[in-house]
Amino acid sequence: MPTEASPPRLTRALSGIQPTGRFHWGNYFGAIRQYIDLQPGAHQAADEAYYFIADLHALTTVRDPPVLRGFVRDAALDLVALGLDPDRALLFVQSDVPEVTQLAWLLMTVTPMGLLERCHAYKDKKTRGLPADAGLFTYPVLMAADILAYDATVVPVGEDQVQHIEVCRDLAGTFNHLYGDVFTLPCPRLVEGGAKVPGTDGQKMSKSYQNTIEVFEEPAALKKKIMRITTDSRPVDEPKEPADDHLFQLFALFADAADREAMADLYRRGGFGYGEVKQRLLAEAGRFFAEAQARRAGLAADPERIEAILAAGAARARAKAGAVLARASRACGLDHGPPPVTGR
Ligand code: ADP
Ligand code: TRP
Repeated sequence: MPTEASPPRLTRALSGIQPTGRFHWGNYFGAIRQYIDLQPGAHQAADEAYYFIADLHALTTVRDPPVLRGFVRDAALDLVALGLDPDRALLFVQSDVPEVTQLAWLLMTVTPMGLLERCHAYKDKKTRGLPADAGLFTYPVLMAADILAYDATVVPVGEDQVQHIEVCRDLAGTFNHLYGDVFTLPCPRLVEGGAKVPGTDGQKMSKSYQNTIEVFEEPAALKKKIMRITTDSRPVDEPKEPADDHLFQLFALFADAADREAMADLYRRGGFGYGEVKQRLLAEAGRFFAEAQARRAGLAADPERIEAILAAGAARARAKAGAVLARASRACGLDHGPPPVTGR
C-alpha cells in the first residue's frame, strides 16, 4: 500500500547575541557571518531565521542602563548594516518577548541543580572565586527558553555555546517525557571549521582580553590597533610558517584565495617585514567592511527605521512565542491564559 510521504520538516534557524560591547572581528567571522548565510534566500539558507539581541542575558554583566541601551541600539545597527535583512529574517530584542521569561520558569521546574552546576559560565566564575548571581546560574535555562519558544530547529553558535544547546535539548526532552510532545528539539550548528579568530596579542579575540578589533572601528583607531598587533622579533630574512602566525591568520580572514596563497609564499620565503603585512591587512579590512560601514551610517541617520525593524520583528516573534507558551502551559496543567494554537 503506498504510504503518504511526510512533508519535509521546516528548518528554522535561531540565534542570539549578547549586547555587551561593540562587535569585533571574532564575533563577525565566528557568528554574525553565519547568521547572514542562513537567511532565507542566502546560499546556505534555512526556511526561516530568527535573530535576537540578548539584552536579558547581558544584564548579568552590564549594570549601567545608558550603556546597555547604547549597546542594544548599536547591535541592531551593526547587524542590519552587516547584511541581516529584516525582509528575510526576524530581528528583535529578547526582552520585547516576555513570553520567553515565563517559559523559562516552566523549564526551571524540570531543571536539576546539578545540570546547571556543571555549566561553564557559572563554574568558571565559581572556580575563580568570583561572586555569581542566580541570573548567571540559571542562564542556560533562559537560553533554552529562547530557543524552544520559537520551535527553532537549528542554532548557529560558536563552540563555547554547544554545552548550552545540550542543556536545552535535555530540558526539552524531560518536559516532553513528562507532558507529551510539546517542544521541538534543536540542533547546534557549529561555525564552519570552528575557526577561532585571534586577537591582537595572539590569544582568542575577546572583549575579556582587551585584544579586539571592532568591525566598525574608526579609521585612526583601526590603524593604531593593527600596528600594535604583536609579532615576533625574528630577522626579516628568516622564512616563517604562516599557519603559526596570528597576523597572517587575521590577513587570511579578509584576503581572497590568491592573495592568501601569495602572502603564505612570502612568509615561507622570508625577506619581508611585518609592517608590510600590517599595511596590507589595514587595506583589506577597510575594503571588506566599506559597504557595511556606508550602510551603517545611513541607518544611524534614520533612528526610526531601526526602531520599526525591531518592533516588526518583536511582533512576529511574540506571536510565535505566545503560541508555544500556551501549548507548554496547557500541557503541564496551567489552563488559564490564551488557548494554544495548533501547528509549528
Ligand atoms: P566575547 O568573547 O568578546 O565576549 P561573545 O562571547 O559575546 O564574545 O561572543 C559572541 C559570539 O561570537 C559567540 O557565538 C562566539 O562564539 C563568537 N566569538 C567570539 N569571539 C570569537 C573568536 N575570537 N573567534 C570566533 N568566534 C568568536
Ligand atoms: N549565550 C549566547 C552567547 O553568549 C547568546 C544567546 C542567548 C543565544 N540566547 C541564545 C545563542 C539562544 C543561541 C540561542 O553567545
